[in-house]
Amino acid sequence: MSEATDKWSAPQSGEHYASARFGSARAAGRDPRSVRRLLERHGVRGPLLDAPCGAGRLASTLASFGQRVVSLDLSASMLDRARALLPGAALQGSVHALPFRDRAFDVVVSCRFLHHLHECEARAAALRELARVSDRLLLASFWDAASWPALRVRLGLRSDEGPRGRTACAREEIAQLTELAGFRVLDHATGLRFVSQQTFFVAERVR
Ligand SMILES: C[S@@+](CC[C@H](N)C(=O)[O-])C[C@H]1O[C@@H](n2cnc3c(N)ncnc32)[C@H](O)[C@@H]1O
Repeated sequence: MSEATDKWSAPQSGEHYASARFGSARAAGRDPRSVRRLLERHGVRGPLLDAPCGAGRLASTLASFGQRVVSLDLSASMLDRARALLPGAALQGSVHALPFRDRAFDVVVSCRFLHHLHECEARAAALRELARVSDRLLLASFWDAASWPALRVRLGLRSDEGPRGRTACAREEIAQLTELAGFRVLDHATGLRFVSQQTFFVAERVR
């Protein structure tokens, strides 16, 4: 994902992501609502990790659960934009090598990251690393291959975003990969099933 990483490293990327990309209140509220719904359903009992945190879009939602929130992103530009909003520590680092001990967090959140990884092996490795530092829950989003936009790409009705674009995968793949990481999927949340491609899942550590 090096080209994509370059995109986020650009000096103005944090500002662009925070203002233009999710400029409307409707677009800005969608992911935080899904995250809140899932966390209310499954509870927050200890510290949370938001990785990658981007420009801090989830900061206030995560802070509202009253536990310590740690945020991490690879991009200094995104972190600069996020810092004003972030409730706790903000670190520059990679999801692929998280600087935390095993099971350091009660909940690990990863929003809009997996669909930037094109290979199943890369998604497996990222989920393994995110799962490693979670003691109980993993809450992440992916692009659902069973959604209408993904189907349109497969039918050639919508252009493929190419090697720098985003990749959809099946719910079954996510279930399998989380299982390999020692977790079990409990729940999903999406705007409209089969219509919205951004889909969240919650998985629980198998004890
Ligand atoms: C689409 S944004 C999502 C940000 C945030 N989760 C949100 O939903 O607003 C993707 C983020 O991933 C970050 N990123 C890319 N590769 C990364 C890596 N290996 N480790 C940590 N962050 C990474 C980028 O800097 C960018 O902030």
